[in-house]
Amino acid sequence: MTKSPRSASPRSASPRLTSPQWDPERYLAFADERGRPFAELVQRVPGDPAMIVDLGCGPGQLTHILRARWPSAQIIGVDSSPDMIGKALAGNTDPRVAYELADVSTWTPTLPGADLIISNAMFQWVPDQLAVIKRLADVTDTLAFQVPNNFDSPSHALMREVAGRSPYAEHLDGFAFRTGVGAETYLDMLAGLGREVDAWETTYQHILPGEDAVFDWVSGTGARPVLQALPDDLRPRFEAEYKAALRVAYPRKAWGTVLPFARVFVVAQRPAAV
Ligand SMILES: C[S@@+](CC[C@H](N)C(=O)[O-])C[C@H]1O[C@@H](n2cnc3c(N)ncnc32)[C@H](O)[C@@H]1O
Repeated sequence: MTKSPRSASPRSASPRLTSPQWDPERYLAFADERGRPFAELVQRVPGDPAMIVDLGCGPGQLTHILRARWPSAQIIGVDSSPDMIGKALAGNTDPRVAYELADVSTWTPTLPGADLIISNAMFQWVPDQLAVIKRLADVTDTLAFQVPNNFDSPSHALMREVAGRSPYAEHLDGFAFRTGVGAETYLDMLAGLGREVDAWETTYQHILPGEDAVFDWVSGTGARPVLQALPDDLRPRFEAEYKAALRVAYPRKAWGTVLPFARVFVVAQRPAAV
């Protein structure tokens, strides 16, 4: 039987591959590490967009990076999580920033359109992400995004391995674990659509504090769907087994626990008209 992860997505129809219920505070525990790729992506975006849409904006903690780079732009943050949008709205003091609750699978920019659509760590949660990216590339001059590509790393492999054990497997039948998309796939697709593409991959070496540092990290993002799909009474046991496996794979050192984390970056531009 397929268990339905509890999703906050307003229009999510699929129980198989969903964005989980988000906890903004937990997510923000590693705000610096999670925000750095966005700052590095923004540095590679050319031009002076008047209207920027940040898809999957989360709790809005990264909007200031957009504002610092483009002081007079109108910025709209879009996210499907009411908790994330609630946090973003509560913290917003910029009159030229708006936040909108919507699912990117069906979202399209409102007039006058978006000169720049940017996204940090969202498309990996979107079912049929390549089709969505293709559609969005058509409605903006510049599409820039970053996605993790760490789904073969021990943190994910061990999650799948523990989830395959009894009694968890019985509750996760049909559960879809996510897979990554490499930079070349995005590049080929967007270049094939006639876009000028700048794509690259970076592996960060995050140094995390605490005894169960990697679990603390993944329980804020990548492990949430499986944790939320398990019954309440089994979750603590699953967490204990998963933590034990992570402690072996990512040993704690005097300077902290090192988590290598691969991320793909893409900036795709419509060529200037001649
Ligand atoms: C890992 S968080 C990234 C948040 C923020 N961009 C950042 O870098 O800190 C992923 C975000 O994508 C949002 N998200 C996932 N699927 C979505 C969808 N289909 N439509 C809109 N937002 C989505 C989640 O609600 C969540 O806030």
